[in-house]
Amino acid sequence: MFAKLLTDIIFNVLHRFVKDKTSSLLLEMRQLVHLFAIFAGIFCSSSPVCTNGYSLINNKCLKLFSTSMSHRDAVTTCSENFGTVVTVKNAIDNQAIASFVGTSIRHIWLGLYCFQSDVSQCQWDDASGSASDYSNFAQSFPYTDVGNCVYYAVSGSLAGKWISNDCDGDLRPFICEIPTTIQDSCNNFDGNCYYRSEDIGFGGYQSFEQAQDTCEGLCGNLVSIHSPNELRYVKGLYRNRNTPNIYIGALTVSGKYHSWTDGSSWTFGNVDSSSQQSGMCMMMSLQTNGSLTQDAWYPSDCQAFRSFVCKRKAGTQCVGPTPTPSTPDPSVSPDPYVTPSTPYCNSFLMAPSQLTSPGYPGNYTNNLNCSFRLATLGAYRIRLTFNSFNTENNYDKVMVYDGDDSQNSLMGRYSGQPEVPFYLESTGNTMLVTFTTDGSVVGPGFSAYFLSLI
Ligand SMILES: *[C@@H]1O[C@H](CO)[C@@H](O)[C@H](O)[C@H]1NC(C)=O
Ligand SMILES: *[C@@H]1O[C@H](CO)[C@@H](O)[C@H](O)[C@H]1NC(C)=O
Ligand SMILES: *[C@@H]1O[C@H](CO)[C@@H](O)[C@H](O)[C@H]1NC(C)=O
Repeated sequence: MFAKLLTDIIFNVLHRFVKDKTSSLLLEMRQLVHLFAIFAGIFCSSSPVCTNGYSLINNKCLKLFSTSMSHRDAVTTCSENFGTVVTVKNAIDNQAIASFVGTSIRHIWLGLYCFQSDVSQCQWDDASGSASDYSNFAQSFPYTDVGNCVYYAVSGSLAGKWISNDCDGDLRPFICEIPTTIQDSCNNFDGNCYYRSEDIGFGGYQSFEQAQDTCEGLCGNLVSIHSPNELRYVKGLYRNRNTPNIYIGALTVSGKYHSWTDGSSWTFGNVDSSSQQSGMCMMMSLQTNGSLTQDAWYPSDCQAFRSFVCKRKAGTQCVGPTPTPSTPDPSVSPDPYVTPSTPYCNSFLMAPSQLTSPGYPGNYTNNLNCSFRLATLGAYRIRLTFNSFNTENNYDKVMVYDGDDSQNSLMGRYSGQPEVPFYLESTGNTMLVTFTTDGSVVGPGFSAYFLSLI
């Protein structure tokens, strides 16, 4: 079964190269998947529930934390619950918040972070994109001069409106939001059950192929991961353990094209493309060790024995092995999380992304004054790795700041040929990299890559 799966996956991944989307095989497999979905729908319960004392409001699970905290601490508290500070995607959500909070609290934080005073530059912490589709800012907001975070006025003349605010300077209550799930007594998150290989009843370590077969025996697949919170949930299964890494259900072709063995779309990824590892299967590092970063994903030899996590739909009965729908979605092409964009001098980049000196790997030019503003979502930090560096010593310099402008603390100043790779980690969700060159002598410059630390 696995061999066929692997063939199908490679076949479909390769399809993306040739952009042939009319394969009849694919259509047939799609129909199978739909049939399977209909059957599963008949035999399982599917009403949404909330766990951990969260309330079901408008198809989301919410919980009020009435102790005031900085936005950063609010984000940390929610992420410990595998959630985000509340997001508001439509007028009904916006109204529901006021009713949910009641009258004793006047303001709450929103899970929104504005990089600039423009709604399209305000990003939801749950990685769902900008607030362009729906927002309810008070007049003349967002206004980042007063801060990049946003609070919601529960009462008063601005009731229901959103107002910019300093992320660390003010303390406010907040609501955490987690996804609904389906009733099932398992490690249950967002409609799925998760099983650690160590708990399934054999040694715990298998090759990728054996691991996928084991998961199929549980009517599931090797785990697929579709959001930072799902990633946090999966790694939370290994809290207080010393497991160095696990297989995830991802396959890779030439380190660039990825697919999940459960057939879901590649909508999120945390691949460390600065790594030198190779192989067609993928693992997630649970520790930072040498060139491996905690939470990042790396290609792996498929024969290596590793721990792993299985995932199956919650609320379903498993009666013997079931056919597994496993067609990678070829419409998601190219892979937005791995194909590096090569920015020009002076750019604003969201993680994960590559940045290089202009013209790299050819020589840069004289008299440059470039700045790269790096950012990730409100909740996360940045790890910037330089994997190539060669500039005129002392005169052509890269400076890295721990924040979005040069008023922030200088984390590093580099020129010449420092030993690579080397990396820096921010304390917040932005970093500034500047590259200035003098009037003579050039070189190949630098190439670097940055990821979110989740
Ligand atoms: C780091 O990795 C090396 C090689 O894989 C391993 O021998 C060592 O035990 C690891 N260190 C820690 C602290 O896990
Ligand atoms: C580079 O540009 C910035 C902003 O435009 C300016 O403040 C800085 O002085 C310039 N640096 C150099 C070395 O020209
Ligand atoms: C790049 O500059 C170096 C000297 O700084 C020079 O030796 C080399 O030929 C240049 N390379 C290219 C491709 O122009």
